[in-house]
Amino acid sequence: MVTIEPLTGSEPDLYDLLVLGGLPKRAEDLAQGLAPRDFLYGAHDDDGVMLGMAFGLKSDYFHHHTVNNLLVHPDHRRAGIGTTLMNYIIEEARRVGHGEVILDLHPARPAEHRPFYSTLGFEMVDSSRARLVLG
Ligand SMILES: CC(C)(COP(=O)(O)OP(=O)(O)OC[C@H]1O[C@@H](n2cnc3c(N)ncnc32)[C@H](O)[C@@H]1OP(=O)(O)O)[C@@H](O)C(=O)NCCC(=O)NCCS
Repeated sequence: MVTIEPLTGSEPDLYDLLVLGGLPKRAEDLAQGLAPRDFLYGAHDDDGVMLGMAFGLKSDYFHHHTVNNLLVHPDHRRAGIGTTLMNYIIEEARRVGHGEVILDLHPARPAEHRPFYSTLGFEMVDSSRARLVLG
């Protein structure tokens, strides 16, 4: 089973995951740079191993959650972890009354994950973003 929970940013295995995903930012930098409106969630298995993460911003002004980085460990893709992370964020956005969730797409391959985000109900806004309007 996969569990989603907030991270502080200083988890040692977060940095390993970021490097594996080609996002070589130090986890400590992420911890220091986290603003109150940022969110950082981790997906763990039953043994506490981090299998995925999502980072983004909650904007009460724009009434949306924006997911800047969504990353699943390369050895654990296509097992529903990305979907579980996104569903968690969608539920969080609903819970605080936000009207939409924006997903930043990979800048070099914006259409590559279209099956992933369209299955979740997201539509492409432009070459860099997809959006889910919450009913
Ligand atoms: C995109 C990403 C987060 C998906 O995570 P995941 O845990 O593998 O996704 P899921 O297992 O929840 O996938 C759900 C469905 O989305 C679709 N999907 C996911 N990845 C896909 C891919 N690479 N190609 C085509 N369809 C894909 C499939 O329909 C899949 O269902 P299926 O496995 O039953 O066919 C992961 O591939 C990743 O970390 N990529 C690198 C980082 C990245 O590009 N992030 C930006 C995402 S927009």
